[in-house]
Amino acid sequence: MAGRLDGKIAIVTGAGCVGPGWGNGRATCVRFAEEGAKIFAVDLRAETMEETLDRVRAVGGEIEPYLCDVTDRAAVEVMVSACVERFGGVDLLVNNVGGSAKGGPTTLDEESWDRQLDFNLKSVYLTCRSVLPHMEAAGGGAIVNTSSTSGTRYTGAAQVAYASAKAAIIQFSKVTAVEFAPKGIRVNTVVPGQLHTPMVETRLAGQRMGGDVDALLQSRIKRIPLGWMGDGRDTANAALFLCSDEARFVTATEIVVDGGMSARCD
Ligand SMILES: NC(=O)c1ccc[n+]([C@@H]2O[C@H](COP(=O)([O-])OP(=O)(O)OC[C@H]3O[C@@H](n4cnc5c(N)ncnc54)[C@H](O)[C@@H]3O)[C@@H](O)[C@H]2O)c1
Repeated sequence: MAGRLDGKIAIVTGAGCVGPGWGNGRATCVRFAEEGAKIFAVDLRAETMEETLDRVRAVGGEIEPYLCDVTDRAAVEVMVSACVERFGGVDLLVNNVGGSAKGGPTTLDEESWDRQLDFNLKSVYLTCRSVLPHMEAAGGGAIVNTSSTSGTRYTGAAQVAYASAKAAIIQFSKVTAVEFAPKGIRVNTVVPGQLHTPMVETRLAGQRMGGDVDALLQSRIKRIPLGWMGDGRDTANAALFLCSDEARFVTATEIVVDGGMSARCD
């Protein structure tokens, strides 16, 4: 049976994960490979990608790991050229690198603010800047950027730089989408809500609940109308739709993947 991304070449940034299981980038690599895409998997740390490589190869997919800091402009340019050299082009880009740091406007220091903006927002600008000329030359492509419901509403923790960067990603995507629509390039955003990804066990439970994973999960589930938490596979499926030809008339918009949480008023 034909895959929904047969013959497509996809760069996925943050293709590893902070722990074992379904992070957003890892799930995107696997889901895209299952649908026939060749994956150029980008991460800062080789060890985080081992499980991603195993899982993609287990479904018969083709994947090339590549180490790159996506906040470094020169490194990003070299990375995109390496993908073009390896696979012959780049049809799809999923910008997944990002993560939150705690702190409000008076408690977050300036260096942390700058780091958060570079990590979450500049990384998206840099990869788009390098990939768009290749897509334009090829006559089309699709980009999916990863925001967060923290970028659209207050989600229960002061993380002002993260929230600002994730909000900006939505508008960055819209502007880029309109500008590049005449070139056949679509740009959309996925807005994940509070997911049960490995980050919950490795970082969030310690930061917010003294290491009590169950307490953190329960406090989050209470806010989700569906009554359970999705994981990276749900984000990946939204990105898959947006990158596939099924979404040929969909650009400059968002898919919210949050089990209904954003629709609640509390
Ligand atoms: N996990 C959630 O519940 C959730 C919710 C909303 C939004 N998001 C967003 O989804 C994205 C992925 O989150 P996750 O928790 O699945 O990922 P994760 O933190 O598990 O993995 C991210 C990967 O990015 C890599 N990375 C970090 N800095 C990098 C850099 N400068 N260059 C290249 N690679 C780098 C890390 O090594 C890691 O393997 C983020 O943008 C995050 O903000 C996550």
